[in-house]
Amino acid sequence: MKLEGTLISATQIQERVRELAMQINRDYSGLSEPLILVGILKGSFIFMADLCRYLTIPHVVDFMAVSSYSHSSDATKASGNVRIIMDCRENQQGRDVLIVEDILDSGHTLDYLIKNFKSRYTNSVRTVVLVRKKTRQTYPVNIDYLGFEIPDVWVVGYGLDYAEQYRTLPYIARIGG
Ligand code: IMP
Ligand code: MG
Repeated sequence: MKLEGTLISATQIQERVRELAMQINRDYSGLSEPLILVGILKGSFIFMADLCRYLTIPHVVDFMAVSSYSHSSDATKASGNVRIIMDCRENQQGRDVLIVEDILDSGHTLDYLIKNFKSRYTNSVRTVVLVRKKTRQTYPVNIDYLGFEIPDVWVVGYGLDYAEQYRTLPYIARIGG
């Protein structure tokens, strides 16, 4: 597998992440308790780092690790079920939660997470997703804040990996064999 060109440049990403943060600042102004940002590891760690630094509203940062793809021979195939590997630290009861996700493919992971957070007696659950593969959703999930739409290709960079490689590229690139 090798890089096949930039799909979204570092500048485009930064501009869009800033716009998303401005929107979130507006929508959550006047909360009585800080917004809980829940980043889904590992893919969202860089997006989270940039997004939360553009926020001016009171917020706390939390993370959850889930696995939905098998790490066997083909790293780009879904295994079909979502497992929580590490749960959040914050108590979400009565709180406003914003799930921070790197990429939406089938929608399976986010569908599971939204339902999971709603069952925790949260006040509200919304989602911010950096990249969506438009043609791929088999689970209809609601995205409240979306960065970019891309075609159905495997992408890496800005937190996204192929077999744990390429996560720290500042841009998002296509990868192919
Ligand atoms: P979904 O459950 O099918 O929506 O898959 C979502 C998860 O699969 C994301 O959170 C990523 O971890 C991973 N994923 C899906 N597509 C890509 C990709 O193109 N590059 C890197 N990771 C991906
Ligand atoms: Mg992810």
